[in-house]
Amino acid sequence: MAISSYDEETYRLSNPGFEEADSDIEISLRPKTLDEYIGQRKVKENLDIYMRAALMRGEPLDHVLLYGPPGLGKTTLAGIIANTMGTQIRVTSGPAIEKPGDLAALLTNLNAGDILFVDEIHRISRSIEEVLYPAMEDRAIDIIIGKGPSARSIRLDLQPFTLVGATTRSGSLSAPLRDRFGVLLRLELYTPNELAQIVMRSAKILGIAIEEDAALEIASRSRGTPRIANRLLKRARDFAQIVGSGDITVPDAQQALSKMEIDELGLDNIDRLILSTMITNFNGGPVGLETIAAAIGEEAVTIEDVYEPYLMQIGFLARTPRGRTVTDQARVHLGFPVIQE
Ligand code: ADE
Repeated sequence: MAISSYDEETYRLSNPGFEEADSDIEISLRPKTLDEYIGQRKVKENLDIYMRAALMRGEPLDHVLLYGPPGLGKTTLAGIIANTMGTQIRVTSGPAIEKPGDLAALLTNLNAGDILFVDEIHRISRSIEEVLYPAMEDRAIDIIIGKGPSARSIRLDLQPFTLVGATTRSGSLSAPLRDRFGVLLRLELYTPNELAQIVMRSAKILGIAIEEDAALEIASRSRGTPRIANRLLKRARDFAQIVGSGDITVPDAQQALSKMEIDELGLDNIDRLILSTMITNFNGGPVGLETIAAAIGEEAVTIEDVYEPYLMQIGFLARTPRGRTVTDQARVHLGFPVIQE
């Protein structure tokens, strides 16, 4: 049905069959078991052993730190852990915990075996970290009661629980916090083949017909990231629905990708801006991250966490002690002349 202008919420309420919003779809696409989870073989194999061993002993899983670039499935894995261990998951994030009391409230409300998932855990403050140390180590928190000379500290015992922390930058975690995680798992960028399997799986769940080659086309342009692959799948579906035959074919996928200005390697406008700015303004480098960030008006951490991992993986960017440099391959891809030494 064509809807020219509508208030989505009103439409949804009056049309119970209305399709899910994109964010709801994302949740329904998340695998709930390790068997359904595609890729990250090493992480899966180890996690499977740790969970089975903990279950056999009737203990909660040791605290887990998941790290790696955004969009690779850290939240999904936390959900899988809760599902496999048969426990509840409470979800929060570093920036959402403003005061030590916020964390104390979360911790004291946990039931035995619960998972506390803290996304962006590198962003919790020092004073909040200090609440976490005894919580992780001794399953207790120390609360100060009263003020001044009559103030005293009492220790509150917590239920056994598992902290699952996620971060894009494990290097930003303080050493004492990092050391308190018993399980450290590093997620890596996915291969195009793995991403194609994820796209086919998501299409099946969403009831979208897609040719295998079209799935591979989307997969090879998703920068190694399932979140991007699933987003591109949904946009390709839009194109197939409105201007194509309904099923997603290779031309539908190509048209959607070129309209979104995503090139054959999956680079978007910002990737190209980073590389072309380095070439035109800084002679290809070496140039410092902060300088690149200032030149293109992006935050340095965003460049480092979101853009660099893929640009380095495909060999377009290199890190040197004196800063970042653009490679000849990147120059060729962007149509710049290669500098002869
Ligand atoms: N959807 C998003 N990430 C996935 C993964 N790793 N495996 C299966 N489906 C996914």
